[in-house]
Amino acid sequence: MNEINNNSPIGVFDSGVGGLTALKEIFRVLPDENTIYLGDTARVPYGIRSPETVTRYSFENAQFLASKGIKLLVVACNTASSVSLEAIRKSVSVPVIGVIEPGACEAVKGTRNKKIGVIGTEATIKSSAYKKAIEAIDDSIQVFGFPCPLFVPLVEEGWTEGEIAMMVAEKYLREVKEEGVDTLVLGCTHYPLLKKVISEVMGSDIRLIDSAVETAKRTAEILKKDGMERRVKERPSRGFYVTDSPERFVKVGERFLQQKIERIEKIEL
Ligand code: DGL
Repeated sequence: MNEINNNSPIGVFDSGVGGLTALKEIFRVLPDENTIYLGDTARVPYGIRSPETVTRYSFENAQFLASKGIKLLVVACNTASSVSLEAIRKSVSVPVIGVIEPGACEAVKGTRNKKIGVIGTEATIKSSAYKKAIEAIDDSIQVFGFPCPLFVPLVEEGWTEGEIAMMVAEKYLREVKEEGVDTLVLGCTHYPLLKKVISEVMGSDIRLIDSAVETAKRTAEILKKDGMERRVKERPSRGFYVTDSPERFVKVGERFLQQKIERIEKIEL
């Protein structure tokens, strides 16, 4: 394994293609950094699995990226961050950033009426990870969590606007709206692509928190604090690994990333 230094890559993993929303933000905030992305496309979705299974998969993902000599690990998957973050932290020697805490912090800053909604996969909502993270900052805040599982295939299908997306969003978001939240956390990798529809249903006065954006900012802060930013101005290297179907990953992923995916390799974990 190479020695870890400023030039080492940032490792990012997700259950599949969704974590590219976080990677896109990392590219925007840290354009000079080398990155390695791993999408566990053979075992996606994580959102319907038990915490034990998600933790086992996450551990293997983290080990793979650690073996590539990363300087920092971003767990872009909300489900993995919700149920496995502590186990991942114990398994690698580099800093580990999950998406829950950065999103929760921003939601706390944003709420005025102290009512925050959280939407995510079944496993994320069941874990109450966002609720716990929000209450750890301010326990007078009320948190209302709702799973929205159909949003994931909808986004992968490219149906992020139009009649069907609106119908699904209206059905899922009715209850969270009724709770009178003024802030809504998009607690799943795919949901930022539905921002327009979600905002239309919730109302333009409801603040939407994008955990991917907050996580990228947190990544930049940690690298700076640790003096680990890449200082070379040469074009960064951006590698992609998947555990299955690289062609589908490229097809769907380029839509998420809004740029070309050039170097991709299929691996076995
Ligand atoms: N990446 C997952 C998340 O953010 C969504 C897809 C899945 O269920 O694996 O929770």
